[in-house]
Order: sequence, then C-alpha cells, then structure tokens
Amino acid sequence: MALKATNPTTTNAWKKLQAHFETIKSQHLKDLFKSDASRANDLTVQWEDFYVDFSKNRITTETVNLLVELANELDLKDAISKYFEGDIINATEGRAVLHTALRAPKDASVFVDGENVIPGIHEVKTKIEKFTNSVVSGEHTGYTGKAITDIVNIGIGGSDLGPAMIVDSLQYYKNHLNTHFVSNVDGDHYQEVIKNLNPETTLFVVVSKTFTTQETLSNANSIRTWFLESQPKEAVSKHFVAVSTNIESVKNFGIDEENIFPMKDWVGGRFSLWSAVGLSISLAVGYTHFESLLNGAHKMDEHFKTADFNANIPVISALLTIWYNNFFKAESEAIIPYTQYLNQFATYLQQGIMESNGKSVDRDGKPVNYQTGTLIWGEPGTNSQHAFFQLIHQGTKLIPTDFIGYVESLHGNKDHHNKLMSNYFAQTEALMNGKTEAEVLSELKAQSLGEDAISKLLPFKVFEGNKPTTSLLIQKLTPESLGKLIAMYEHKIFVQGIIWNIFSYDQFGVELGKQLAKSILNELNNDAKSAVHDGSTQNLLSFFKENC
Ligand code: F6P
Repeated sequence: MALKATNPTTTNAWKKLQAHFETIKSQHLKDLFKSDASRANDLTVQWEDFYVDFSKNRITTETVNLLVELANELDLKDAISKYFEGDIINATEGRAVLHTALRAPKDASVFVDGENVIPGIHEVKTKIEKFTNSVVSGEHTGYTGKAITDIVNIGIGGSDLGPAMIVDSLQYYKNHLNTHFVSNVDGDHYQEVIKNLNPETTLFVVVSKTFTTQETLSNANSIRTWFLESQPKEAVSKHFVAVSTNIESVKNFGIDEENIFPMKDWVGGRFSLWSAVGLSISLAVGYTHFESLLNGAHKMDEHFKTADFNANIPVISALLTIWYNNFFKAESEAIIPYTQYLNQFATYLQQGIMESNGKSVDRDGKPVNYQTGTLIWGEPGTNSQHAFFQLIHQGTKLIPTDFIGYVESLHGNKDHHNKLMSNYFAQTEALMNGKTEAEVLSELKAQSLGEDAISKLLPFKVFEGNKPTTSLLIQKLTPESLGKLIAMYEHKIFVQGIIWNIFSYDQFGVELGKQLAKSILNELNNDAKSAVHDGSTQNLLSFFKENC
C-alpha cells in the first residue's frame, strides 16, 4: 500500500501549531523554566542507556502535543508499519526500504514480493562472520601466504561514509588490521592510500551497490592495475572482494563469485552500513562488535515502533525539526558530539539527512509550498567551540543544536572527561541563558571601567540566549549504543519525510551532475566539442585545457 499524500499545511494540527507559534515565538527559555517547575522532567525521555533532554527547546508540553497531533493526522503510525513491513515506500524507484530488516533477529519475518527476506540476510551475515574470522585470525592469507595486515575499502557515498565513520568511531574496539578508505575519484586520494601498502598483505573491499559508480570503478581499476604490477593475475582472488547487488558486473570486473558479498536493492546506499556494506566494519572491529552495532540499531527500531509518540526519541526529535524549520524558519541544524571518536558523525549524517530530504516535490508530484530538508553540519566539541560557536551564540540565525555526550570516557581519564563534559553542560546553559545587560554591567563595573567605556562595550557583550538545544547523554560509546544513535537519526529522517509529504529514499538530484560530467569528460579526453556550454563554463574549460 502506498503512503498517503497530504500537504501538512492543510491539516488542522498545522493551523493550531501556527496559532500556538504566535504565542510562544517570543518567549524566553529562561521564563519557560521559571513558569513550569517540572519542565525538565516532563520534556526528557529516558530509555535504556539514553537520557534525552528536550527541555532546552523553545517548546512547551502543549507544543509536543500539537506536533504529535500533526503526526497522527498525517498517519505516521500507519506509515511506520509500512516502512517496517516492506511496503514499496520508495515509490519513485519502486522499492521497499528495509535497512531495519538487516538488524532484525533470525526468527523475524519480513516479506518482499511474497518472500521472507530474513533467512537470506542471515546467510550473508554468516558469510561476513566466517570471512571476518578467517582474515582476523590469519587463516585467510594473501597469495604469497602472508597474513593480511591492511584493509582498503573502495566505495563512495553510502558505500564509504557509513563504514568510514563507524571504523573511526569504534577505533577503541579495533583489532590489529589497519583500515583505509578510498572514495574520491581524485587520483591523489588512492595514490596516497596505497603508497605505503604492501600488495602481498592488503585486502581490497570494493563496495558499490550498483557497481556502475564512476569513482569506485575508476579507483578499483587503478588499484588493480597497481596490484598487478607486482602480483600475478591469480593473486586477485585472494586480495579483492566485492559488495554489490550487481553480481554480473562484479564478475566481469574479475572478482570470483565466492568473493562477492551480495546486498539487495531495497537497501538504500545511505542506510547500507548494516548490510554487507559493513564488511570493512566487521573486519576492523570483529564480527561480534559488528553484531552488537546491529543489535543496538534493532533496539532503537523497537523503541521507535512501540513507544508513544510523546516519549519516542526519533519521533520527538523529527517533530522538533518541523517546528524549527517550518515555524521558526530555521535553516540548519548543528550536531555536536562531545567525543573525538564521533569526528565523522556529522559528515555521515549530512548524506543521510540531506540526500534523503533535499526534495521540493511532494508525493503527488507537485512542488511543495513549504520548506523541507535542513542543512546539517557539525564538528566535535570542544574543538567546534573554538571555531564556529560564536555564530550560534551571537549570530542572527537560529540554529537548533544536538549535543551528544557520554557519561563514561573509554580510556577513563576522569580529569579530561570532566573538563570535556563541563563544556558540554556549560554550552547548552550559555546558549539558553545568554547574558543580560544587568549581568554585563556588573561584570564591567567590577573591572573598574569608566562609564563611557562601559556604555560603549555593553551592547557587544550582551548575549540574547534563547538558543535551542537537545542534550543526548549516553552512558558509554559502545558498538551497541552507536547502533542505537544512528538508527535514531535514520528514523528521524523517515518521520520528517512523512510529515513533509516527500519521498525520502530516492536521489535523482545527484544524477544530473553525473550525466554532465560524463560528456565533459569526453571533451577533456578527446578534445571533442560535444556540448554547447554557457560562457562561464566554456571559459573555465578553455583555461583548464590551455594550462594543463
Ligand atoms: O550519491 C549518489 C549515490 O547513489 C548514493 O546514494 C550512494 O550511496 C552512492 O551514490 C554510491 O553508490 P554505489 O554504492 O552504487 O556505488
């Protein structure tokens, strides 16, 4: 059954939200806390090892109730069932969206075209487990009999970002294998990665759902050519494996069928790390940790499916985006993890969120008359505090920000962890409270400044505050808690798409640039004049050709 298609702005709840917004838009968070003693508790959700405090957002419990009313009016519950049950909710590509099935237990049943997909998923997982164990233990050796020491993941977009982010985030749990990632078609990228590698001890994992992606195929071809400069052809099968839906093209590339880890087309690229695309993760941290990651995601799936919307972490989080994006007209959201391990987390989410919800046509094929997808950005704290926080504190833009922190640090240095977390707590307080004129005045007077100097400085030192934040406090960074966190954002993306009445699981916009690049490449390689360009592009091309 297809997803319903309703313009959210025509619902009763939307109208109520608009009226409610008028009453709340100028209220200061400090006053909201003063007028409601139980606000901090009422607007916090505790679930498993997650403590999620929504109370520093510019909402009241009435706002949450109205947003939930909106979700109900738009049949979110029904849409969630369709999502998990394998309905063709990626209608423009005629596919189900089933990354959730990849982390479902063995005894679950999810049907696609009348077939239960769960046994097939577990077959691939068993293959991943066996292969991982044999590489990690040294049983699988390179062609010359030496143990594998280095893994190179060759892929781009979802075939790179997820595995790269997870391997970086879980480096504390890593085994002895060195893991590298080649993604950019920029030849300098792969050259830099392979320059110190020994082909005899390196395993290349070519990851491409379609096996047609220019970047990945170019990198895989160039790396294979480099490999064959020192190794015989028969060595390829010991050193190249692939992950793809396109088995024939992988075989044509020269990879044996037994070295192919299959995936299905109902796994979207940006949600694919749970599939065989996660092979590099499994190799890097071991299969047991890979499975814990999947189990964590499954637990979040269950929470999302069963919790009341008022206490449902992904649902509230998604509805807050609607609130800020469509009522406050905020344009971006920042994601700030207070752990260096999650260094690549915002970059990873940029694809998930912006490729999914960067859409301007609704599910009826009509242009939307409201704002959709948000800009996503962020860097770990405390580094980001010394880079762009000034704009969040005192700039003209409203930037709702997620603060992700952990109760325990992994290496257990309490001194550093307390310093780190004191910043985590201080920033959300500072963003909310700001600094009033009276506070600045007394501070400047205490510095014995003259009245003239004080009145000149005063306006620059006042912080309005009232900047919304959500604090996610998680017990510890483990494979399982990371799985939960990623799944939380995945479901947030889904809910946003349902409310905005758009299709979140295609990405046609990415295709146009790819097509144009193909014909321009022909011009660069063959000096052909295949297209008429605008004046600017023509000049740039001529300059490049004359000078290269
Ligand atoms: O950027 C477009 C895209 O299709 C992404 O959605 C995908 O993750 C990426 O390209 C890589 O695609 P593939 O895995 O087929 O090589």
